[in-house]
Amino acid sequence: MAKKEIKFGVIGCGLMGREFASAAARWLHLANVGFEPKIVAVCDTSLKATEWFKENVPSVEMVTDDYRRLLDNPAVDAVYCAVPHNLHERIYTDIIESGKHLLGEKPFGIDLAANEKINQVIAANPKVLVRCSSEFPFFPGAYQIFRWMQEGKFGRIIDAEAGFWHSSDLDPRKAINWKRIIKTNGEYGCMGDLGLHVVHMPFRFGWKVKNVRALLSNIVKERPDRDGKMVPCETWDNATLACDAEANGEPFPMILSTKRIAPGNSNTWFINITGTSFSARFTTKMPKTIASLPYSVGGEQAWHVLDTPYASAYPTITGGIFEFGFSDSILQMWASFCDELVNGPNMTQPFGCATPQEAAESHKLFTAALESERTGQTVNVN
Ligand SMILES: NC(=O)c1ccc[n+]([C@@H]2O[C@H](COP(=O)([O-])OP(=O)(O)OC[C@H]3O[C@@H](n4cnc5c(N)ncnc54)[C@H](O)[C@@H]3O)[C@@H](O)[C@H]2O)c1
Repeated sequence: MAKKEIKFGVIGCGLMGREFASAAARWLHLANVGFEPKIVAVCDTSLKATEWFKENVPSVEMVTDDYRRLLDNPAVDAVYCAVPHNLHERIYTDIIESGKHLLGEKPFGIDLAANEKINQVIAANPKVLVRCSSEFPFFPGAYQIFRWMQEGKFGRIIDAEAGFWHSSDLDPRKAINWKRIIKTNGEYGCMGDLGLHVVHMPFRFGWKVKNVRALLSNIVKERPDRDGKMVPCETWDNATLACDAEANGEPFPMILSTKRIAPGNSNTWFINITGTSFSARFTTKMPKTIASLPYSVGGEQAWHVLDTPYASAYPTITGGIFEFGFSDSILQMWASFCDELVNGPNMTQPFGCATPQEAAESHKLFTAALESERTGQTVNVN
């Protein structure tokens, strides 16, 4: 079967730009998909970053340090943009206005005002598909929870907790970078960097956050710069958000946390949901394990712990007995974006990438969280 080729430009050839290139390069891993990305143009202001693409991605025909040139290239159908947060508003709006489809990185604007500008441009260009990157729901365990939620298994939600935790910032010698400077990362700090990952599934379930009491901490206040000189590290390291949430009109408590300093955790993404008829837990710390507890009135309450097979949203050549990992989740997310681009509402599986609407809801939540930290009060969201 001939696959529909989608010609991509990449703006921002750093950590995440290279992850996309890797996913595109092993598209043969996916079984029976009718679409395929081809990276034809790349843009980065750093020569070193584009050199890697020149050396490793043979399909690249255009290399530039000016993203407007990439947007003028009629061969480019869609763009992946992975640049620092202070550039999202300008570059995302220019991409959308150029008529090219966009998978943009979170947080989708450095703050609420930037996010609102991006959404205005999306509304004015309804033919352009715009989605936000968020890969963890594509881990088979997380995806299984989504399917259980679709089946309505949980009953009334009792409570929920979701988080995304790192710990390399525990080392005070770790050098400062753009993600730890308010001007480039944004005032949200760890929430802007990690938060969309945490809220993507809760928002996809249709859960509403009514208000938030935020506890934010800046633990390491100085870090060395490239020359070893100590400079201020102003961003929030950790955030715990206690929320009044609502599912199907019923209230429940939800704790959302994003942490750069959670000792012992490296890229730990998790979601725990308890309900009156079903409960479930998944964490990337144990990526092939999913726990669930079905309950019927008067019955026993026993957690079932299962090694999840490699059962991904999009079938692959990997046997069900093998393990799934981070780069697999990126590949699956890209399959979902390309699927939606080619098949629209008739996607071959039901979980689409994070939407601009979900990103907008996350901005309202994080903006309210900043106010809660400032005032010490519970703050309404919206
Ligand atoms: N989905 C995920 O799991 C995940 C993980 C890490 C980062 N991110 C997000 O991806 C985005 C980029 O993060 P990263 O870790 O790849 O950062 P990075 O610093 O590794 O890469 C960013 C790149 O953008 C380039 N750049 C800067 N200004 C530019 C401009 N005007 N034009 C073109 N290129 C420019 C830089 O030179 C750099 O190569 C951020 O929004 C971040 O939040 C997502």
